[in-house]
Amino acid sequence: MKLKDIRALASVQGPARSVSERLARRCYSVEDMRKLAERRLPRSVFDYIEGGSEDEASLRRNKSSYDDWAFLPKWGSVEHHDLGSTLLGGPVAMPLTLSPTGGTRLFHPDGETAVAKAARQAGIPYGLAHLSTTTMEDVSAAAPGLRRWFNLEPTSDKVLLQAVLDRVSNAGYEALLVNVDCRDIGHRERDYRNGFTAPPSIKPKTVIEGALHPRWALGFLANDAIAFPNLDAEIPEGPLSSTPDMWRTLLAGTYEPTDWDDIRDLRARWNGPIILKGCVNPNDAVIAAELGIDAIQVSNHGGRQLDHMASPLDVLPEFVERTAGRLEIIVDGGIRRGSDVVKAIALGADACSIGRPYLYGLAAASQAGVTHVLDLFAAEMTRTMMLLGVSTIQELREEGRDLLRHRSEVFTQTTAPESLEAELAYTELRNH
Ligand SMILES: Cc1cc2nc3c(=O)[nH]c(=O)nc-3n(C[C@H](O)[C@H](O)[C@H](O)COP(=O)(O)O)c2cc1C
Repeated sequence: MKLKDIRALASVQGPARSVSERLARRCYSVEDMRKLAERRLPRSVFDYIEGGSEDEASLRRNKSSYDDWAFLPKWGSVEHHDLGSTLLGGPVAMPLTLSPTGGTRLFHPDGETAVAKAARQAGIPYGLAHLSTTTMEDVSAAAPGLRRWFNLEPTSDKVLLQAVLDRVSNAGYEALLVNVDCRDIGHRERDYRNGFTAPPSIKPKTVIEGALHPRWALGFLANDAIAFPNLDAEIPEGPLSSTPDMWRTLLAGTYEPTDWDDIRDLRARWNGPIILKGCVNPNDAVIAAELGIDAIQVSNHGGRQLDHMASPLDVLPEFVERTAGRLEIIVDGGIRRGSDVVKAIALGADACSIGRPYLYGLAAASQAGVTHVLDLFAAEMTRTMMLLGVSTIQELREEGRDLLRHRSEVFTQTTAPESLEAELAYTELRNH
């Protein structure tokens, strides 16, 4: 080769001009962002994001159930590519939402505010945790125009409930995302082993971890202490104002029971959409539809509550069949690729939701990190749909099940005999 040929081959990239550019050059998947977050965070904080309850069977199943479905692309032209859809009567730029995660400022000092800004930029809704570390009002002020949902821990204490609902409504939240899977706190053994507590307490191990992750430690120490300001519900003065605060007791691990009557009551009190989060039993969805609930977030809390709960994707087809369009269905848990979202939509979900993936983005690079994760999802969905042969979310829904085969169905096919004669005999046998 001549020198000029070698010079033509040489491609030297200049330094990245922004965090976004650096991420685009280094992180090609959510898994890459996960690794970056792992490097940035102390082990006990990373494990708090990463872990599930007990044997983490639900956590593993959430992910593997997506691998159980394979695509059957169809040939034909793909035009007018569009990921836009609607959810609870409003537009979404793609059928994805950000699920509530408590304690978010622990992962990056910009916390919920950074997540909210990234969600607004991406044109998708964000569910703010009741146990968020930024007030619901501050999140509203930081991201006007964002479709904000509030993640409510239900209570049968009506005075407290009304006070919280008034505050949520005044802060401009559109919908309630009501937890129905937190009767107790899941046994998250990684956290116990690591000595992790929320809010965090400082132990010798914390100091060592902080020293090994100085960037995280400086951010943590230079900012306001981690607290849960949405718990400071304004309880009206009067004989009931001394009612025990359910959320503080929830944090302490004891739960004030609620039942379907409380959900019926909540329906009467709240004018906007209500989403029940944490069902994997289709019977619950049928009852919810009868009570006028607008949507179900089929979820096992990312494998953090009851272990061995079914994977949301595994039960999704039954939810779709039993509810027959009477309410909308969102699924979460184990979604790490745009192709996972495509699978869930093809199986009848109206949207998907993610928790850990955007936390990896936040921990890695604040708002730019969350944006990078959302860009990855959008790009992967676009590419998957293009290769699958569908142009729009509407078309994906219509083609739906024809574009997918479950592992069990493929297995049935491969039990057919291998030789041509045997194949023909087998086909004839099946046709009779
Ligand atoms: C660190 C962390 C904190 C969470 N906190 C809450 C919470 O406060 N309320 C809630 O309803 N779900 C909470 N979740 C569950 C998520 O909303 C969501 O259901 C789950 O993360 C989805 O699974 P994925 O992480 O595999 O995407 C939390 C999840 C994580 C990882």
